[in-house]
Amino acid sequence: MAEQAAVFDAVRRGMIPAHIYNDAEIFSLEKERLFGRSWLFVAHESEVPDAGDYVVRRVLEDSFIISRDNDGGVRAMFNMCLHRGMQVCRAEMGNASHFRCPYHGWSYRNDGRIVGLPFHKEAYGGEEGFSRKGQTLLPAPSLGTYNGLIFISLDPDAPPLEEFLGDFKFYLDYYTKQSSSGIELRGPQRWRVKANWKIGAENFAGDMYHTPQTHTSVVEIGLFREPKAEKRKDGNTYWAGNGGGTTYKLPDGNLEERLRYVGYPDEMIERMKETWSPDQQTVIGDNGFMISAASLFPNLSFVHNWPRVEESDDVLPFVSIRQWQPISENETEILSWFAVDKEAPEEFKALSYKAYLMCFGSTGMFEQDDVENWVSLTNTAAGSMARRLQLNSRMGMLFDGSPVVQPLSAEEFAGPGVAHAGYGEYNQRHLLNEWANCLERPVDEAASLAVGAEKPIEEVPR
Ligand code: FES
Ligand SMILES: [Fe+2]
Repeated sequence: MAEQAAVFDAVRRGMIPAHIYNDAEIFSLEKERLFGRSWLFVAHESEVPDAGDYVVRRVLEDSFIISRDNDGGVRAMFNMCLHRGMQVCRAEMGNASHFRCPYHGWSYRNDGRIVGLPFHKEAYGGEEGFSRKGQTLLPAPSLGTYNGLIFISLDPDAPPLEEFLGDFKFYLDYYTKQSSSGIELRGPQRWRVKANWKIGAENFAGDMYHTPQTHTSVVEIGLFREPKAEKRKDGNTYWAGNGGGTTYKLPDGNLEERLRYVGYPDEMIERMKETWSPDQQTVIGDNGFMISAASLFPNLSFVHNWPRVEESDDVLPFVSIRQWQPISENETEILSWFAVDKEAPEEFKALSYKAYLMCFGSTGMFEQDDVENWVSLTNTAAGSMARRLQLNSRMGMLFDGSPVVQPLSAEEFAGPGVAHAGYGEYNQRHLLNEWANCLERPVDEAASLAVGAEKPIEEVPR
C-alpha cells in the first residue's frame, strides 16, 4: 500500500515509475478501480441503425450485446445467459429479433426480456413456477450517449455521461459532428499489440514531440506534409473536462481557407459553419488551430490528419476513433474505426477512407512507427531495473513546477479548458493524475450486489 502511495505521489510530480507500464498488480488495480467504474466507449449508434441491429463488444472480460430494440432504444446487455451462463450471442454483429442461447435454448428479445424456456411447464411448472415476467439479460449498470457515441459504465452510480465529458464535448464535436447528421463508421479493425494500454492513450492525448522523430520516414516519402519539427511546436495542446488533445497551427487565412487547406470540400465547410458554435469556428478560423489527435480518459482516442492521397500535392482529411482495450498489463487490443460525416460526398468518403488506411489502422504507416516504440517500452518496463527508474514526464514545467510558457489567453484560443502553445506533457500528466485518482479510491462493494433470475418480480395472478 505504501509502495502504491509512492507511485501515485511520483506520478503527480510528473515522474512516472517505469514499471506501471508492465505490472500485473497495477493492472489488477486498474481493472477493479478504473475500468470497473469509468465511462467506456462501446459502439456508435450508426453501427446499429435499425431495429434488431446489434454488435458485441467487450469491457475487459465482460461481453456486452449492444442492440437497437424494436422501440428504437439502444441497449447494452451483459452477454451471459441467466440460466447456466452460456454466452447468449456468439456472433460479432448482425440483426436479430431474438437471441437464443446455444446451451439449452432460453431465448431473449432484442431488448433483453426472456421470451422462451424450452419445456417451461414440465421443467419449471410454467409461469406459476417460474415467471418470465421482468426477467432480462443483465443491463449494463449505466449507459449514456453523446453525438451517437455509446458509453457504458460498470458503476451504477457513475456521474451522468455529459458531466463526465465536461468541456471535452466542445472538441468531440470536431470529430463526431461535422454536420447535423453526425458520423458513420467503418470497422472496427481489431488487432493486438504487446504494449501497455496507457502508452497509446497518453501518446494521442498530447505527444506532439514524437512526431518529427518517430514519423520521419512518413514525411520523407511525402505522405504527410506537416510533421516537421517546427510545424508541430507551433501547435498547441489543450485539456478540458476528462480529455485533451493536440492541434496544428495553420497558415494565415479565414475559416473557409483553413478548412480548405486541410482538404475539406466547400459543401462540407458550409455544413460545419451551420453546425459548429461561434467559438468552435473561432478556434480554426481566427485562432488558426486545427484539431489533431486527442484522448478521452481512460482509453478512447481520436485522430484527425490530412495526408496526400494522390500524386498531386492535394491533401485530404480523415477522422478515426480508436480504443485501447487492455488484455493484460503487457497486451492491448486496438479497435480502430474510420469515421466520416454522413453527409459527405461519396467521393470524399472513399478518398478519406484511403487516407485513414494509409496512416492508421492495422496497416497504417504512422501506426507501425508508433507501435514499435510502445512494444519496446513495455518490454523494458518489466525488468527489475525499471523498478528503480522514474521516467521524466515533466515537459512544459520548470524545476519549481511553474510553467515554461503561460497558458494561452481566451483571445489566443477560444476553446474551453487550458491550452499551451508548443511542446509539453501537460496532457499526459492530466491523464495519469486521473489514473492515480481512480486507483487510489477503493470500490464500494455494496454497489455491485449480485442479482439473478430466481423469483417472479411481480405476483403471478392465479
Ligand atoms: S445456459 Fe443458456 S439456456 Fe442454459
Ligand atoms: Fe505517432
